[in-house]
This record gives sequence, structure tokens and C-alpha cells, in this order.
Amino acid sequence: MTSSAVRVHRLAVIRGDGIGPEVIDASLEVLAAAESVFGFRAELTEISAGARHYLATGELWTPALQAQLREHDAILFGAMGDPVVAPGILERGFILEMRRSFQQAVNLRPVKLYPGVTTPIDGLTPDRCDLVIVRENTEGAYVGRGSTVHAGTPHAVAVQESVNTRMGVERVVEFAFRLAERRGGTLTLCHKKNILVEAGTLWQSTVDDVSARFPTVPVDYVHVDALCFYLPTTPERFNVVVTDNLFGDIITDLGAAIQGGLGVAASANLNLDGSGPSMFEAIHGSAPDIAGRGWANPIGAVLSTAMCLAHLGETDAARAIEAAAVHVLAQLPATAGPGMGFSTAQLGREIAGLLTSGAPVPAVPGYSVMDDLAALR
Ligand code: IPM
Ligand code: MG
Repeated sequence: MTSSAVRVHRLAVIRGDGIGPEVIDASLEVLAAAESVFGFRAELTEISAGARHYLATGELWTPALQAQLREHDAILFGAMGDPVVAPGILERGFILEMRRSFQQAVNLRPVKLYPGVTTPIDGLTPDRCDLVIVRENTEGAYVGRGSTVHAGTPHAVAVQESVNTRMGVERVVEFAFRLAERRGGTLTLCHKKNILVEAGTLWQSTVDDVSARFPTVPVDYVHVDALCFYLPTTPERFNVVVTDNLFGDIITDLGAAIQGGLGVAASANLNLDGSGPSMFEAIHGSAPDIAGRGWANPIGAVLSTAMCLAHLGETDAARAIEAAAVHVLAQLPATAGPGMGFSTAQLGREIAGLLTSGAPVPAVPGYSVMDDLAALR
């Protein structure tokens, strides 16, 4: 490729259900603005998937779809889940299959309180809340293994297994150490090793072993219940937190609440070995109750799109989108719902307009997960 050749990124776009299409539309508007300013090209493939597609075709995660997605550099994902399909069918049958099939081993979820955002934690300031949760993304209780006997009787027995492999744990722990090393911060293992002794021992011994390769990274441990106390009260205690799939699911919603709500929280589902595409999604779900009203905050999806660009090496675009989105976010009286004062689409246009206008926007203070993603590609 000559230096004048346009950088092309092939992105698969899965709008999905509920507010997914709205937040993706807003994100694509921002993406188009970033293309025009930063000189790369995003080649988009729209993928039909979600509740309506499932009802019409009976298809969820098919081999053909997998093969098609594999041809892409990354996936932008809206949301999935709709009351017309029984709970869990789409979530397990599509989202979890996607994370597992493409070995998206790390679910990277920043918990960053951006300036001007109202947090439910009285007195919390952005400088005290700037951490990343590294959630294991393919194992644990999410493998969907277990059994029920005597179902529907008073003698029903339900067994739900949590599977933890040394390989799966080690790759996410190693990623978390690399991240902590880059950020010059502490690596905290979050588990419940006093009770979940088998899994907890595997996690702790993996952290101990990997830590020998990262002598400059201080290591800490907290039980997951204690973390739920410390995260809202003293978030400054954490820089990089590594945890299992289920704990990570739970504590990242808590993190989202602290940083101003689910509409703000972004995530990257990272394949670490190049065997499949990574996937980028806001951490909110499909929120069918507010779908189609323009009340969804697209900033979590826009920041996820920026994370995607950072992962693809478009760091300048990623940082510019983050700065523009954060600048717009600071002006919102509420982080979701009609109280935002802007519709979902208007917010996309505001952020896109800010990018193309070239107007100066303050840099986002603190650590940049966009730089982290570019560096840890
Ligand atoms: C998330 C969501 C998903 C999860 C659901 C929708 C499968 O809650 O991304 O946090 O549990 O991982
Ligand atoms: Mg969740």
C-alpha cells in the first residue's frame, strides 16, 4: 500500500432490535464524519439479524453468517432482544455465540466519569473515576452448561456450571496486565475465592504466575461483594480490574450507573489472536420500552464505534470522536430519555457536526482507552 492509498476498513453492522437501530444510525453518522476528516474509508455490510429475522427465518447464528462476518475487520453491534421472542433465545443464541465463535476473549469496559456528567454518587469527580474492567468473555457461567432433573416438581434440582480454563483465564489476565502496565496502574483481581474455591484458586494462581512477567504492575485482590462497595465509594482505588464473565457482567452495570448511566457505557469484545473479528457494542440492551422514540442516548454506541476505530489503528479519529462525544455529553441535562433535550438522531448529528466543523474541543482528561486499544491491538 502506498502512503497515499486510502485505508479501508470492512465493518459488518448488526443493528438488531429495540434501540439498536437508532444508536447504530447515530454512530454511523459520526463514523461518516470521521471518514471525511481523517481520510479512511469504512466499507459497511448490513447484516440482518435479531428478533424479526429470527421469527421470519428461524435463523440465529448460522455457519453462513459466521463465514460472512469473518470476512470483516470488525463488527459494530447495536442490541438484541425483543419481547416477541422468549427471553434468552437471542441473547444466548446470537450474542454469546458470536463472542464464543470468534473467541472474543476480552470484554473491555471502561468506567470513566466524563466531565459534566451527573453521577448518582454525590461529590464524585472525574479524576477519581477512571478505570477499566476487563471481563472474561467466553467462559464461566456463560458456557450454558448444566442440567435440571425433576423439573416442575418440588424435587426439582438445577445445576448450573461455571467453566474456567487455564487458557481462557490466562489470556484475559495477561491482557489485563499489559493494560495495567501501559496505564501505570494496579491490576485488581475481582472474584469470590473465599467461596468459589475451585474457580477462585485457578484465577488467583494464574494472576500470580502471570504477574512474574509484569514485575512493575502492583497486584491487588477484592471479593466481588467488596468491589460493589468500593466501586461507588472509592473508585480511585481501581485502575484495571480483571474478573470472570458473570461478575464482569454485574459489576459493569454498576460501573455504568456510576459513570452516568447505561447510555454512556461502551465496550469492546476483543479477539486477541486474529482468528476472528472483534465486536463493539454499547453495554445497554435493546430497551424495547423506549425503542423508536428517539430517547436512547447513542453516546455509548458512538464511543464503542470510536473503540472500534482505535482497534483498527485509527487512533486520531477515535480520540477525536471521543472528545466530541464527551463535549456534547457534558451539555446534556440528562444522560437518557426525553430529558436529554436532544433526540438520538440529533445527538449523532451534533457529534458529527462537531467533528467536521474542526471547532476546537477540549481533550478528554485522564487515561485514554482509545490509546490503550491502539497499543494492545
Ligand atoms: C452484556 C449483556 C449481555 C451479557 C446479555 C445481553 C447477553 O448483559 O453485554 O452485559 O450478559 O453479557
Ligand atoms: Mg450486562
